[in-house]
Amino acid sequence: MKQLTHNDVGKYWDDNAEAWTKLSRMGYDVYRDLVNTPAFLEMLPDVNGLYGLDIGCGEGNNTRLIADCGAHLTAFDISSKFVHYAQQKASEDQLNITHCIASAVELPFPDKTFDFAVATMSMMDLPEQEIALAEVYRILKPGGFFQFSICHPCFTTRRWKHVRDEAGREIAIECGDYFNPIVNEIEKWMFSQVPTELRKGIPKFKVPHFSKTLSDWLNIIIDAGFTLKHFVEPYADEETAHKYPAVADTRVVGYFFIVQCRK
Ligand SMILES: C[S@@+](CC[C@H](N)C(=O)[O-])C[C@H]1O[C@@H](n2cnc3c(N)ncnc32)[C@H](O)[C@@H]1O
Repeated sequence: MKQLTHNDVGKYWDDNAEAWTKLSRMGYDVYRDLVNTPAFLEMLPDVNGLYGLDIGCGEGNNTRLIADCGAHLTAFDISSKFVHYAQQKASEDQLNITHCIASAVELPFPDKTFDFAVATMSMMDLPEQEIALAEVYRILKPGGFFQFSICHPCFTTRRWKHVRDEAGREIAIECGDYFNPIVNEIEKWMFSQVPTELRKGIPKFKVPHFSKTLSDWLNIIIDAGFTLKHFVEPYADEETAHKYPAVADTRVVGYFFIVQCRK
C-alpha cells in the first residue's frame, strides 16, 4: 500500500462523517463524553475572551463546549462533511464559532494569530504529525498554549488483547510490538455501545492510524519548540465506572493522554 498522506486520510474521514456524527450525537462516543472531554476541560486553562483554534473539530461537540467557556473559536476539519455538521449545530445553538475546511499540516492562518489551540483525538490521525506541530507553533502567539489528546501510545499497540478474569471482568491488557508502531493501517471499528439493531446498515468506521512511541511523541513536541506544561492520563472515577460500566475498562490502563505545552 502506498504511504497515505493527510489528504488520503481526509477522504476516509469524510466517508465516516455522517455515521460518526449521528452516533456520537446519540451518545455512543462514551469514552469521549464520559472520560476524555471532562478531563480535557478540567485541565484547560481559563480561555474566557481568548482567541483559539480547534484542530480536527469533527462534528464540533468539543468546540461547542470550549466556546461555552467564553473563547472566540475558529474550528476546522479536513472533512467538508464534518465541517458542515459542526457549522449547522453551532448555528442552531447560536454560537459564534468560525468554521472552515483545512488541513492541520497547512494552516491557512498568519503567524502568531491565536492565544491557544486545541486538538481532541485528531493529532494521531495524520501521517505528518511533525509538520502539524510546527504549524501549530507558528500560528500561536508567544506564550500561547496547545492542548491535545491522543490514544495512549503505550497501551494501544499493534499487538493488543483484553485479559479477563473468570467472571469476564477486564483485569489487564496484553500489549506488544510497541517499538513497531502502527503506520499507514486502516482500522475498522464502531463505537462499542452501539446496539446490534442500529449497527445494521451502518458500515464500520475506517480510520487510518499512525502511532508513535511515547518518547517519539515527547521529542517531536519538544523539537517543535514547545515547553511541556502538563500531562494527564484520564480514566473514569469509581462512581462513573459504576454508573457506566462501558468505560470501567479505562481504570485498567491509560487509554488516552492529554498534553499541554506552551510556545
Ligand atoms: C477522532 S475524530 C475527533 C473529532 C473531534 N475532535 C472530537 O473529539 O469529537 C478525528 C478528526 O480529525 C480530523 N482530521 C484528520 N486528519 C486531519 C487533518 N490533516 N486536518 C484536519 N483534521 C483532520 C478527522 O476528519 C476527524 O474529524
